[in-house]
Amino acid sequence: MKDYRILISRKKIIKRVKELGKQISTDYAGKTPIILCMLKGAVYFFADLLRALNIPVTVDFVRISSYKNRTESGDIQLLLDVTEKVENKDVIIVEDIIDSGKTIHYFINHLKEKKPASIKVCTFLDKTERRNYPVTADYVGFNLPSGFVIGYGLDYAENYRELPFLAELLNE
Ligand code: IMP
Ligand code: MG
Repeated sequence: MKDYRILISRKKIIKRVKELGKQISTDYAGKTPIILCMLKGAVYFFADLLRALNIPVTVDFVRISSYKNRTESGDIQLLLDVTEKVENKDVIIVEDIIDSGKTIHYFINHLKEKKPASIKVCTFLDKTERRNYPVTADYVGFNLPSGFVIGYGLDYAENYRELPFLAELLNE
């Protein structure tokens, strides 16, 4: 049963990710930022973005669970914290999607306690319509007005992450 509609093809995604990689490489020229992958959703974007960078980076992984039900943010739980020393380092957080902003807002505050030199947010998707927290992404792959999306790492109840494109879930 095909219950989704393709929104952004793999080809278009890669083209945009390359642009982001170029921009980040220019902005961080001469630096070695710590680039953080927010598991699990950002893995595909993260891997493609790393390959589009031409600056040295240190990679690390973070996992936050935030869903109270399948499509809305709930209680935040930090399941895996940063292991690299971020004090006085430039940090780039790589997210799959920012919706209400709750997850990233929580994590930015958590990270600030570790006193990094700077924090920037790079998100594959920005869904500004439901934003409830004061967060703005510094790098955005695509803006999304509404709807629940899957694929390219994003899931619905742990399904569909493996789809190489971005799709909109129908009849949610
Ligand atoms: P926020 O805390 O409301 O900003 O939600 C952010 C998190 O919710 C993201 O890291 C995703 O894991 C998840 N999320 C939000 N919208 C979607 C969506 O449309 N599809 C899949 N996951 C989503
Ligand atoms: Mg997520």
